[in-house]
Amino acid sequence: MGSITLINNETGDKFDFDLIDCTRGPKAVDFSKLFETTGIFSYDPGYSSTAGCKSTISFIDGKKGELLYKGVAIQELVDKYKFTDVCKFLISDSLPQNDTDSLEFDLELRHRSFLHEKLKRMFDVFPDRAHPMATLSALVSVLATLYVDHKEIVNEEGYQTMARRIIAKIPTMVAYCYRNSVGAPFIEPDVSKSYVENFLYMLRGYPHGRMKYNRDGEQEISALEVEALDKILTLHADHGQNASTTTVRNVASTGVHPYAAISSGISALWGPAHGGANEKVLRQLSEIGDVKNVDKFIEKAKDKNDPFRLMGFGHRVYKSYDPRAKTLKKIKDELDKKGIKMDTHLSEIAQKVEEVALKDDYFKERGLYPNVDFYSGIILTALKIPVELFTPIFVMGRMPGWCAQLIEHNKNPHARITRPRQVYLGK
Ligand code: ACO
Repeated sequence: MGSITLINNETGDKFDFDLIDCTRGPKAVDFSKLFETTGIFSYDPGYSSTAGCKSTISFIDGKKGELLYKGVAIQELVDKYKFTDVCKFLISDSLPQNDTDSLEFDLELRHRSFLHEKLKRMFDVFPDRAHPMATLSALVSVLATLYVDHKEIVNEEGYQTMARRIIAKIPTMVAYCYRNSVGAPFIEPDVSKSYVENFLYMLRGYPHGRMKYNRDGEQEISALEVEALDKILTLHADHGQNASTTTVRNVASTGVHPYAAISSGISALWGPAHGGANEKVLRQLSEIGDVKNVDKFIEKAKDKNDPFRLMGFGHRVYKSYDPRAKTLKKIKDELDKKGIKMDTHLSEIAQKVEEVALKDDYFKERGLYPNVDFYSGIILTALKIPVELFTPIFVMGRMPGWCAQLIEHNKNPHARITRPRQVYLGK
């Protein structure tokens, strides 16, 4: 630990503040007593220089393009573990020791994946064209009315039940949002199917446990598709104190029901500056329409008088590259090789956008690289996922991270209600 001295140049007063050593990354200055000691507070819109909590869940080195969950590199988790293993790791600290261990957690999720009958009836009130992110946020709030045990969530068992229940139910909710929007009957979860396979089944299945038929017979969900979606979910599982996670923590800090806090996180994720970008990327690539138009759109993105931004580019923390985007590109190329064809037209446009932007001084000087949302849409399209479900799939991926962060926040005896100050400039 060291210290830092702050000098008020108006009065000459000097104040010492402790530095906090982080286990990885730069030190932080402890300004929690800044106002009490100096009568001055800090101004940091967007919180680029401010930590709101101490956390042990994920670590990002923006310069190196490194992401770790609980000290383990994201690439290792993607290569060696299933998404449900990563969920367990995030919410309860241990990775499965063997296949039985891994299956046990998946089985628990399968059995918890059914929705309360009252919740299913709620879908009727949403118009057909309701965006699934709005529906999801509302339905997760409703969970707080159906599971009223949050006051008892003060022990490990309570936290685990809260987290496992919502991680299990969220794929069912996402699938039902889609089926409701197209007027298709709900397909109940199938406990014989793994977490990701079950999701694809509820999305694409036909009544009585059948899949689509064509001349070759019944079209099963391929192991390749399951594996690709599983990896995508793992890549989204946690990401430090991003906007939606900070929202979950802020709302949780008022002592509200955990599902109310998570519902707020879903709303925060919806925005195009955050998780909503994956849907916008695909729509933007379609709007560009042809590789020959890429230069024109790049110029638009650079024009300060034009609000147009290149979706899927740039990140608050990553300034060299986003490791998740790199892994996604690898998944995309592997799927392509193994026969799950990407939309070649969109792929070519995306490739060209990346190529032109990465050579352009505007993007280089500002450290703007493809982020996690740039390639995920192209892969999800190849997996026959409708575009309006892209951000809901991000919700499925981020759910264990939100739960882990909420548990960490609620277990911290020193946690206080979030209450920043303001620089008042009014009358
Ligand atoms: N296209 C064009 N210019 C951009 C872009 C972009 N995608 N992103 C940032 N810039 C420019 C800004 O105009 C600004 O330029 P200036 O210095 O000349 O004013 C500079 O780069 C810095 O941008 P900020 O907005 O200050 O960066 P910030 O860290 O606040 O924003 C963000 C990060 C929101 C991700 C931004 O890069 C963006 O809007 N990207 C597009 C949306 C997107 O892909 N979001 C997904 C992010 S990943 C996730 O949340 C899951």
